[in-house]
Amino acid sequence: MENKVKQTGTSTISIDGAEPVEFPVLSGSMGQPAIDVRALSKHTGHFTFDPGYTSTCSTESQITFIDGAKGQLLYRGYPIEQLAEKSTFLEVAYLLINGELPNKTEYKSFSDTITNHTMLHDQIESFFHGFRRDSHPMAMLTGTVGALSGFYHDDQHTTEDEARNLAIHRIIAKIPTLAARCYKYRIGQPHVYPQNDLSYAGNFLRMCFAVPAEPYEVNPVIEKAMDKIFILHADHEQNASTSTVRLAGSSGANPYACIAAGTACLWGPSHGGANEAALNMLGEIGTVDRIPEFIARAKDKSDPFRLMGFGHRVYKSMDPRATVMRKTTHEVLGELGITNPVLEVAMELEKIATNEDYFVKRGLYPNVDFYSGIVLSALGFPTDMFTVLFALARTTGWISQWNEMLEDPSQRIGRPRQLYTGAPERDYVSIGER
Ligand code: CMC
Repeated sequence: MENKVKQTGTSTISIDGAEPVEFPVLSGSMGQPAIDVRALSKHTGHFTFDPGYTSTCSTESQITFIDGAKGQLLYRGYPIEQLAEKSTFLEVAYLLINGELPNKTEYKSFSDTITNHTMLHDQIESFFHGFRRDSHPMAMLTGTVGALSGFYHDDQHTTEDEARNLAIHRIIAKIPTLAARCYKYRIGQPHVYPQNDLSYAGNFLRMCFAVPAEPYEVNPVIEKAMDKIFILHADHEQNASTSTVRLAGSSGANPYACIAAGTACLWGPSHGGANEAALNMLGEIGTVDRIPEFIARAKDKSDPFRLMGFGHRVYKSMDPRATVMRKTTHEVLGELGITNPVLEVAMELEKIATNEDYFVKRGLYPNVDFYSGIVLSALGFPTDMFTVLFALARTTGWISQWNEMLEDPSQRIGRPRQLYTGAPERDYVSIGER
């Protein structure tokens, strides 16, 4: 990766009346400015304090752009709405990794390569059998993705393009097989092997819902919806799990171990677990007449309750993925003839909350997870599989970001600093004298 960040000015910082020091002001291709403080501690002895990184760019990246105020999401410059409507997940995966959409030959070669790596090493099966039957599928996914590092450990991935590409293709190919295996193990059904003449989404659906005793045909409406869900979740710039993958990878760690770290981070309810939490919340609300009670709780600062599926660290207007997902939800439920009482609660909650002063003032709109739980449950997935599906899709973004990081000449091992507020130095007192 060629560094493209440009210096567009300087900013002078004077701390406590000391001699002012000049720092470069950098600009990205969409114009967002950032002060380059890399030399701050060297020149001033000060660090910046930014818990949660709300004002910090941790890296330069050319993969995904978000304008939270405008509700804009671009993959390599292409609007998410266009990709979700016109593209396929594998085409988007190629785009995220390589920077350009593939031509026909490139697409065929990429799809063939992914298809050739869909099977798991048979010994992976032993890892599944070590899990309790009722283990959360995210626990199984985190463990088994990490276990892949034991099968494919190659130190060359930090220096050799070929080794790195092999890791990228393997993980994108194997993650649906692992995700489906988590589901099958949980429900006590035999593992369904991948079928390579199906699409990425179609193959995944078959591995989840086929049984050896029956023929299985992929429903094209569900297949298209699944593919769209994968596209919408494929990347989201430097969110918590992606930053985790980059941080883990910055030490040169094994790529599968890095993806396991990202998977673990995604599991939390403030991140990938939000769609499960949102659907549970809609179920708990149950009927439209109970919405005001939950809105009041969300506004009450003494109550820790939050409206799950509302708000986003970056989007302070509508999440563009939510707009596509909202439409997909209606399409899927309409096509499958499902009338879902939860959807009625969701639509009413969306209407009330988006008109309430509390939510409008804070820029709290429904995010993608508000709808994805509804559509995933209509597709037949239990709630505890939702984050697994998110992880499956996001693996492509994680591995693209990991690859970009390793190719970035300015990359260094991640090492944040802290503001220590603990005890000052003191002498050890022996136990009898305490
Ligand atoms: N319900 C009620 N109030 C909220 C909510 C909510 N869902 N989200 C934020 N607020 C309030 C919060 O109390 C605070 O109010 P005040 O300024 O009066 O103290 C204000 O809005 C700002 O909140 P914040 O916690 O500073 O915002 P944040 O950027 O740190 O948090 C968030 C973002 C997504 C963690 C948060 O909005 C949240 O917890 N939402 C519910 C969980 C959720 O849906 N997460 C999925 C995120 S999208 C999926 C992904 O990309 O991973």
